[in-house]
Amino acid sequence: MTEVSKYFHNTSESRAAWEGAQEIIPGGVQGNIKYYDPYPLSFASAAGAWLKDVDGHHYVDYLLSFGALILGHGHPVVKKAVTEVWNTFGTSSFGVPYPLELTMVEKIKSLYPSIEHVRFTNSGLEATLLAIRLGMAYTARPLIAKFAGHYHGGHEHVLVSTHSVVSDGTPPRKTAESMGLPDYYVQHTEVLPFNDMEICERILREKQDQIGVVVLEPLQSGYIPARQEFMQRLRDVTKELGMVLLFDEVKTGFRIRLGGAQEFYGVQPDLTALGKVLGGGFPVGAVGGNKDILALASPRKSKVAREVVFHSGTFNGNPISLLAGLRTIEFLQEGGNYEGLLKTTEDLRCNLEDISSSYGLPVRTVGVGSIFNLVFPSEQDEHGAERFDVVAAEKSARHRELRGKLDFLLMEYGVFSKPYNRFSISLAHDAKAIQHTLDAFEKSMSALKKTV
Ligand SMILES: Cc1ncc(COP(=O)(O)O)c(C=O)c1O
Repeated sequence: MTEVSKYFHNTSESRAAWEGAQEIIPGGVQGNIKYYDPYPLSFASAAGAWLKDVDGHHYVDYLLSFGALILGHGHPVVKKAVTEVWNTFGTSSFGVPYPLELTMVEKIKSLYPSIEHVRFTNSGLEATLLAIRLGMAYTARPLIAKFAGHYHGGHEHVLVSTHSVVSDGTPPRKTAESMGLPDYYVQHTEVLPFNDMEICERILREKQDQIGVVVLEPLQSGYIPARQEFMQRLRDVTKELGMVLLFDEVKTGFRIRLGGAQEFYGVQPDLTALGKVLGGGFPVGAVGGNKDILALASPRKSKVAREVVFHSGTFNGNPISLLAGLRTIEFLQEGGNYEGLLKTTEDLRCNLEDISSSYGLPVRTVGVGSIFNLVFPSEQDEHGAERFDVVAAEKSARHRELRGKLDFLLMEYGVFSKPYNRFSISLAHDAKAIQHTLDAFEKSMSALKKTV
């Protein structure tokens, strides 16, 4: 049986659940990126690092709700925070100001020195949307620039060229990534090549009076690092040209370092979008940064609507998301917990690389902090390529084939990430979960070896 036919065999309840779902839910999923062929697993429950699917199989979870659950599923600290919300506030939403908002802003400011003022949203998408609007207002320029392969949530300006491309020394193509996207947004979004400062700088200088905001994931897809010189130069050039530099740290915030990728690189953006981990497992987003830019959203600025950046949201800064997030961050900061998470990730990466090498199919783990991905490099990468191009390796037929099989084997042996997806680690990934992962990986590698 192939890996996929075993999947059909083992997960009949998931299949039935998905078949029923797709009768009334487009594609049977609540978001396009949640789908994978032949159908996604359907889950019944979760605890700590573990997921249980509707067929009764258990998996160590490395998707962790797309990286959001840095303490794992149902952590006592988070459960307690939710109870504390009821006991302290008596409500799940004031909809209007209350003191916890300030406490959370102070916590963010203490970890992200580039952040002076903060507005909360309910998702990462809303955070990048607001940040871009602020940057456009601040610079009064008509274009934004984003990077090929970088994802910032599903709103118009950034649904352009979100698929990674192998850098070939030319400006990346602009592609609309959705039906229903007015041409305006493709026309008003410049696309830059990640880690290629020469071309970036050329495009930025050519359009210097028009580009207002440069937005990027400091690590593409959360795991492909920017080169240090690239980051520094991008900061310098955007400052020189009067552009707002926006770091989308929705994925990388609290995960690369507690202070995000900006702490790791030592580079300070003008604006930062946060999300995921910040909500401790509940919906959240935030825009933080330079107070002069954020001040454009103050309703006291003017009584004329077009002289103020509009932003609102019924559940913005609601107590459950903020307290769960605050307690999560506090717990990460306690007694070596965060350092422990980084160490667990580092050890896991080393062990995965060692096991794969022992089967003659070496994988490279690519990432920083508590996120990484598994990439099968080409022979050339291993022997003599000038530098390892992660995107080129990921697009190679070899990686697609091996990784595709590996992910289904890992699911068969009880490890879940979502095919081709990156791995996020949580504090719930204890010795038992890690050992289970390594055993599953060993069995998967052994089976994979037989297929090549
Ligand atoms: C870098 C980045 N920006 C923005 C978003 C959108 O966040 P949300 O899904 O909370 O809207 C994501 C989500 O995966 C993301 O990874």
